[in-house]
This record gives sequence, structure tokens and C-alpha cells, in this order.
Amino acid sequence: KEYEHIIVTRPAPGVGLITLNRPKALNALSTPLFNELNEAVAELDGDKEIGALVLTGSERAFAAGADIKEMKDKTYEETYGNNFLESWTKITQLRKPIIAAVSGYALGGGCELALMCDIILASPTAVFGQPEINLGVIPGGGGTQRLVRAIGKSRTMELTLTGRNFSAVEAESWGVVSRVVAEGEGQVVKDAVQMAETIAKKGRLAVQAGKEAVNAAYELTLAEGLRFERRLFHGLFATQDQKEVHCPPGPSSPVYQSTR
Ligand code: HXC
Repeated sequence: KEYEHIIVTRPAPGVGLITLNRPKALNALSTPLFNELNEAVAELDGDKEIGALVLTGSERAFAAGADIKEMKDKTYEETYGNNFLESWTKITQLRKPIIAAVSGYALGGGCELALMCDIILASPTAVFGQPEINLGVIPGGGGTQRLVRAIGKSRTMELTLTGRNFSAVEAESWGVVSRVVAEGEGQVVKDAVQMAETIAKKGRLAVQAGKEAVNAAYELTLAEGLRFERRLFHGLFATQDQKEVHCPPGPSSPVYQSTR
């Protein structure tokens, strides 16, 4: 399908790649862009051919934030009345893994969008930040909550209250991103697609359960989380993928169909 603000491709078997495409506005996140993004991720999430997603922007900007032009005249009645930004979190409801490949600016809502993804890879050019304080507001797409869980209170306070940017190297040392990839145009997307392809080759149900278990760690106590993990683990013994790995089809064993 053709979109106006994003491009959707399938660069490798099992991989869906969504590229934010508002270059003139440094991929500022407008409502129309988010509507398209939500539609595309929902479609890829439901597509049996797809096992993992990659979300990226341009070399210059992953996304420079919520669209300031769209936001600047909004009133309290509009934002609270219509629950502004509520639809931004749909991406966190995906069952399949989504990897953010970040190059250039990931500011404000752009940083928050990356934080909503399951894994972040950064180019050495990546610049993260929550500069909302400079606009008289605070992060509204989960920045304060997700950053605290990723990098702790002191750093999150500093970033939120000063609005200063942080580099790819800082993001890596703090654990915001998995790693900083090698220099080079397109490298971060290449590495993210490769990682997505690796994931897409694994058993689908196990991948889904792994993602669900890790995400549960954000919500549950340790005891509840451990129980949740173990129950998912037990459940995976009912899948054909688990049987395939341990009992390869042979003359005396049943031939299992892959669930992939
Ligand atoms: C709308 C934006 C934009 C944004 C950049 N542009 N960021 N438009 N919303 N968030 C537009 C500029 O207006 C300009 O368009 C074009 O993109 C290029 O930007 P320049 O500023 O000319 O580029 P440069 O000098 O290289 O500076 C890059 C930049 C700067 C440092 C990223 O653009 C910047 O500071 N942008 C705002 C970053 C920000 O505050 N983001 C947080 C937004 S608040 P024209 O038409 O003039 O050429 C937010 C709230 C989230 O995200 C809350 C809930 C999720």
C-alpha cells in the first residue's frame, strides 16, 4: 500500500521495514503520520509472512519530535478532551518484535517512539533528547516513565528538566540502546534488518512469549514475573516448534509441521 508519510518495504524474508518519510520536517510526528504508522504496524503484525519489524527514519533524523506546528495552538480542552497522544502507544501493543534503527535526531516524541520499540540500535550520529521543557511542556509519550526504568531517576530528571541532548555513546553506556553500529550510510538499518531476519527465523510463538515475558518485567513484582515467565515457558512445550527442535523427524518419530 502507498502511504503519504511513511514507506513500507520487505527488505528480507520475514521482515517488514517502516521508514518515516517527512524529510522536510525531519520526520516530525504529526497525527496523519501516526495514523499511517498505526495502520502499517497493525497490518504487518497480522501478516503471517512477517516475523519482525524495523522502524527507521532518515540519516538526518529518526524523528525530531511531535509536530510543533500542529501542537502549538492546541488548548487544554482539545488535548485532554480528545486524549491527545493516546493513539501513539498502539505500537506498544504489537505482538511481534519491533526494532528501532536510529540515525540522527531522535528528540521529544521521536525519542519516545524509539523507547516504545523492543530493541534500539543507534548509528554513531544518533542524538537523543527530551527537549519538551524548552517548549513549556514535558514528555507526553512515555519519556519520563520509560527512561526512568531504562536509565534511573537521576539521569532522567537531568534530561527532562534541562532538556539537554544525549549522544549515541551515552545512550549505549546507559543501556538505552543495545549497541552503536559501525559508521556508514544505511548501516544502522542494515544491522537492524539483519537482526530482524534472525528473529523472524525463530519459532513465532517462542518469540512472542519471550517479548511478552520481558515486557511483563516492567509491570509485575519479581515473584509475579517469575511465575508468569515459568507459565509461558511451560506452555511452549505444547508447541510444534519445541517438538521439532528436540525430536527431529526421523523414521520412528512423527513428522511435525512447523508453526512458522
Ligand atoms: C515540526 C519540525 C520539527 C518538529 C524540525 N522541524 N523539527 N517541524 N515539528 N518537531 C522542521 C523545521 O521547522 C524545519 O522546517 C525543518 O524541520 C528543518 O529543521 P531545522 O531546524 O531547519 O534544522 P536544523 O537547524 O538542522 O535543526 C535540527 C533540530 C531542530 C535541532 C532537530 O529542528 C529542532 O530543534 N527541532 C525541534 C526539536 C524539538 O523540540 N522536538 C520536540 C518537540 S516536542 P522549515 O519548514 O522551517 O524548513 C515533542 C513533544 C512530545 O516532541 C510530547 C509527546 C509525544
